[in-house]
Amino acid sequence: MSSWSPEQNQSPGGLDPHLSRTLFLLLLIVAPSAQGVIPNPEACQVFQSDNGSSVNCYPPAKVPLQLPADTIFLSVEFLNVTQLPPDFLQGVSNLQELHLSSNGLESLADKFLLPVPQLKVLDLTRNALSRLPAGLFQVSAALHTLVLKENQLQGLEASWLLGLKALGHLDLSGNRLRTLPPGLLSNFTDLRILDLGNNQLETLSPDLLRGPLKLERLHLEGNRLRALEKGLLAPQPNLRHLFLSDNQLAAVAAGAFQGLKQLDMLDLSNNSLTSVPKGLWASVGRPGAAWDMKDGFDISRNPWVCDQNLDDLYQWLVANKDKMFSSNATHCAEPMAVKGHTLLAVAMSRAKPEAGAETGVAA
Ligand SMILES: *[C@@H]1O[C@H](CO)[C@@H](O)[C@H](O)[C@H]1NC(C)=O
Ligand SMILES: *[C@@H]1O[C@H](CO)[C@@H](O)[C@H](O)[C@H]1NC(C)=O
Ligand SMILES: *[C@@H]1O[C@H](CO)[C@@H](O)[C@H](O)[C@H]1NC(C)=O
Ligand SMILES: *[C@@H]1O[C@H](CO)[C@@H](O)[C@H](O)[C@H]1NC(C)=O
Ligand SMILES: *[C@@H]1O[C@H](CO)[C@@H](O)[C@H](O)[C@H]1NC(C)=O
Repeated sequence: MSSWSPEQNQSPGGLDPHLSRTLFLLLLIVAPSAQGVIPNPEACQVFQSDNGSSVNCYPPAKVPLQLPADTIFLSVEFLNVTQLPPDFLQGVSNLQELHLSSNGLESLADKFLLPVPQLKVLDLTRNALSRLPAGLFQVSAALHTLVLKENQLQGLEASWLLGLKALGHLDLSGNRLRTLPPGLLSNFTDLRILDLGNNQLETLSPDLLRGPLKLERLHLEGNRLRALEKGLLAPQPNLRHLFLSDNQLAAVAAGAFQGLKQLDMLDLSNNSLTSVPKGLWASVGRPGAAWDMKDGFDISRNPWVCDQNLDDLYQWLVANKDKMFSSNATHCAEPMAVKGHTLLAVAMSRAKPEAGAETGVAA
């Protein structure tokens, strides 16, 4: 991409079909150039390519009042605007990407996206949105990436998301979500990445993940989950990366990971797990099997009670120890005899194949 300069677009004489557009761009753009155009610090930068114009507005630029009709990429960031003009996107029907992060946006008009049915990416990171208007996405069938990270959402209503047919990546992290409506995601047939991290979720509806989904990556870290039930993850057999760290998980159901044949990464660190039920690990991370946990797992910073109830985990750990993260920070909290020992050391001493299961742990 090259910086737009007024000379490039003028045909040598005759009626220039782009003339009015060129004049318009002259008014819009900051184009510091050898031709001596006076840079306007309050204007946005425009770059042109065969595909259309990319417009970038950063401080000290102001929100543009008009945009080139061929704009395909628009970034208006760090401007601290709480509202955008209602007709902000009027006339840019080819817009594919819209980046509005780090403003103070408090609300969006319900017709905000109507002029841009081809929009594929919408980034609203770090604004002050507490809700979205119902029907905001009614023409957004092409939108595949929606980022609402670090806003003020406390809940989510299914009606806000109606119309999204191609959604592949939904980022709701860093909000204040306490609950999510059941079946919320059931219409998203292409969803591959769902980020619900760093919210205030205490429980999840058992059918939250129901539907013909293709989820590969699920972020639930930094919430207040206390239990992981059987069945929540089961509708998502393609799940590869699962983040559950920094919750208050004290219970994981024996069948919680059942059916997750692709699981390559599991983070359960910094929870309240003292034990896990027998059978939990049978479905994940078997060496040599297709589902091999190849990107690693982390069960550190849990108050493990290292007694015979963990025999199942010990065996699994020994078989998968090369994929273990933070093994030094994975300690036994109890019983006294092994308090402070690493879980792996205890597992190794108990799971020696020749020694038999009854071998005591060295104190
Ligand atoms: C223009 O669009 C085509 C097809 O989407 C893409 O391959 C190409 O990289 C784009 N060119 C520029 C300069 O953005
Ligand atoms: C936006 O707000 C932040 C924090 O209050 C401030 O540091 C920054 O200078 C502001 N930017 C503009 C363009 O006003
Ligand atoms: C799924 O889509 C149908 C048809 O558009 C709609 O009636 C229903 O409310 C949607 N469900 C959810 C949970 O969004
Ligand atoms: C552990 O998680 C809690 C939230 O449950 C968080 O406040 C804390 O900072 C985390 N600790 C570490 C060491 O990451
Ligand atoms: C973890 O333990 C190993 C072996 O005891 C040691 O070599 C390594 O330095 C330790 N790592 C950390 C981060 O403490």
